[in-house]
Amino acid sequence: MEGLVTQSLANRIAVVTGASSGIGCAIARQLAACGARVCLVGRKVETLLRVASETGHAASLAFCYQADLEREVDIRALVASLREDCGRVDVLVHSAGTISLGPVEGLPVEDLDRQFAVNLRAPYLLTQALLPQIKACRGQIAFINSSAGLNAKGSIAQYAATKHALKALADSLREEVNGDGVRVLSLYIGRTATKMQADVHRFEGREYRAELLIQPEDVAAILISALCLPRTAEVTDIHIRPMSKVA
Ligand SMILES: NC(=O)c1ccc[n+]([C@@H]2O[C@H](COP(=O)([O-])OP(=O)(O)OC[C@H]3O[C@@H](n4cnc5c(N)ncnc54)[C@H](OP(=O)(O)O)[C@@H]3O)[C@@H](O)[C@H]2O)c1
Repeated sequence: MEGLVTQSLANRIAVVTGASSGIGCAIARQLAACGARVCLVGRKVETLLRVASETGHAASLAFCYQADLEREVDIRALVASLREDCGRVDVLVHSAGTISLGPVEGLPVEDLDRQFAVNLRAPYLLTQALLPQIKACRGQIAFINSSAGLNAKGSIAQYAATKHALKALADSLREEVNGDGVRVLSLYIGRTATKMQADVHRFEGREYRAELLIQPEDVAAILISALCLPRTAEVTDIHIRPMSKVA
């Protein structure tokens, strides 16, 4: 289209948490396919190495970082490694997440603590620590949120509380860093065909039919299109739900 100056992701440095599985894995693969140098973050090195090798011709552009995001010491070590290896961060995608389902009456507070640590505290700490590098290159930050981050139904109080808080973090951060040229995007996603959603179906006693759900690749493609927008515009919030209403 004449006059449309989209941003290229070639040679950009992208950090993706949750890159070992599901949505984060699809995002990492598509970023690599766009020529980005992708830093894959997850707990299991073997899985990360497999994902990195599956990025095909772009395999040499994928780097693996082991970190349990529940542990602050791991986050600090991750930040130090990223600073040493990359220097700059153009794109930071927070996709790692964990869920515990059940009624407030019965679900242990330890489950809330774990979800709080992975779903909110880790994105906060990682963003805070990498912000100087992101600001320096007028980078972009994406938070993989959930429809539960906007609307909490029964048996999802703990997870939804962490995702509501993640929305607040993203909205507030956007106000703070837009002036530095940094874009902040939240994606509010419905049921997507991943291991996490298979677990949710099991909890609900529902038949899991992946083909009726959003595909991780759909989420990745939508995110990439937002990341590539011309610098004159910012997408702040994206809502994605399954097309099939059976899901
Ligand atoms: N699937 C859905 O229907 C859906 C809907 C709305 C929002 N979301 C959100 O989408 C994001 C991705 O989830 P997914 O559906 O792709 O699920 P998934 O396939 O189960 O992937 C979850 C990812 O989070 C990582 N993770 C979990 N705990 C971690 C920890 N303590 N330290 C480091 N990494 C950790 C996992 O890494 P390991 O390999 O190390 O376990 C994995 O890469 C999450 O934020 C989730 O809340 C999902």
